[in-house]
Amino acid sequence: MRDFRLGWLCIFVILVLISMYIHNLSRKIDELVLKSNEKLQSPKTDISINDDVVVVYNRVPKTGSTSFVGVAYDLCKKNKFRVLHVNISSNNHVLSLPNQIKLAENITSWSKMKPALYHGHFAFLDFSKFGYKQPLYINIIRKPLDRLVSYYYFLRYGDNYRPYLSRRKHGDTMTFDECVSKEQPDCNPNNMWLQIPFFCGHAANCWKPGNKWALAEAKKNLINNYLLVGVTEELDDFIYLLEETIPRIFHGAKDYFLNSNNSHLRRTVQKLNPSEETVKKIQNHEVWKMENDLYQFTLEQFHFVKKHADKMQRFMYEKVRPK
Ligand SMILES: *[C@@H]1O[C@H](CO)[C@@H](O)[C@H](O)[C@H]1NC(C)=O
Ligand SMILES: *[C@@H]1O[C@H](CO)[C@@H](O)[C@H](O)[C@H]1NC(C)=O
Ligand SMILES: *[C@@H]1O[C@H](CO)[C@@H](O)[C@H](O)[C@H]1NC(C)=O
Repeated sequence: MRDFRLGWLCIFVILVLISMYIHNLSRKIDELVLKSNEKLQSPKTDISINDDVVVVYNRVPKTGSTSFVGVAYDLCKKNKFRVLHVNISSNNHVLSLPNQIKLAENITSWSKMKPALYHGHFAFLDFSKFGYKQPLYINIIRKPLDRLVSYYYFLRYGDNYRPYLSRRKHGDTMTFDECVSKEQPDCNPNNMWLQIPFFCGHAANCWKPGNKWALAEAKKNLINNYLLVGVTEELDDFIYLLEETIPRIFHGAKDYFLNSNNSHLRRTVQKLNPSEETVKKIQNHEVWKMENDLYQFTLEQFHFVKKHADKMQRFMYEKVRPK
C-alpha cells in the first residue's frame, strides 16, 4: 500500500517537472520568434508589401484615359489608396533632367501616399536609371488614326467632360477630310508620332518621327518595363486584368466600370469618320505604318496575356530541401 502511494507521488512529481520544462521551453521559443520578428521589421517599416505598391500610368492623350482614371478616382476611398495627377507645366511630355530625378525620388519615397496611382501625360521615365525601384507601369494605346481624328475634333469642339472650356481651335469648322486634302498642319501624319515616344522615353531619338530605333525601344520598354498595356477598344478587359493582377488597388473595378452609367466616358462632341480616300492617304505614310506596328504589337501582347488569364491556375512549392 505504501509502495503504491509512493509510485503515484513519483509519477506526479515527474509530470510536474515535465510540464515546467515544456512551459520554459515554449517561453524561450516565443522570445526567439519575437526577436527575429523585430529584426525583420523595424517599427517604421511595418507596411505590408501590398501597401507599398505604386502604379504609374503615363497616359497618352485621347486614348480613353479619362474614363479609366475616373474609375480609379471613384474606387480610391473604398479601397484606401491614393490617386495623384502629375501636372507638368506647359503640357510638355518631356521632363527636364532635374525634374526626372526629383519625380522618381518623390514618387519612390513618399510613403504617406502609398499605395498610390500616379497619372500624367509624360513619356516613360526609367526610375532604375536613377537608382530607384521601377514602379508598376501601366498604359492604354489606341489605333493611331482614330487617336489623331479624335484629337483633331477635340481641339475644335471639346468634349462632354468639360464642355464649358473653349478649345484651341474653337470655331474652326474644317473637317478632317478637308484638312487632309489641303495638307494642313493639324492633320499632318507626323502628329501621330506620339504613342511610340511615350513608350520610348526621354532619349532624343524617341521624338524624331519615323525613327526606327524609337519603335524598337518602345517595344522593348513595353515588354520589360510595363506590367500591362491595354487598348482603348478593349478597355473593360484591361480593367478586368488589372483587378486580377493588382487587387489591392483595383478590387471591384470591373463591376464598377460595367455598372456605373458610363458617366466617365468622355466623348469628343462632334466627330466625323474620315473618308476612305483620307484613310488610304494616311495609311500610306511611314509614321502611320510605324505607329500601327506598335499598336498591333501591343494588341498581340494584350491578347496573349488575356488568353493565359486562367483563374483556376495555381502554383505551389514541393520538394523543399533541406527539411
Ligand atoms: C495644371 O496646372 C495649371 C497651372 O496651375 C492649370 O492651369 C491647369 O488647369 C492644370 N491642369 C489640369 C489638367 O488640371
Ligand atoms: C513630394 O512632393 C510633394 C509636393 O512637392 C511634397 O509635399 C512631399 O513632401 C514630397 N515627398 C517627399 C517624400 O519628398
Ligand atoms: C445613373 O444616372 C442617373 C442620372 O444621371 C442617376 O440618377 C443614377 O443614380 C445613376 N446610376 C448609377 C448606378 O450611377
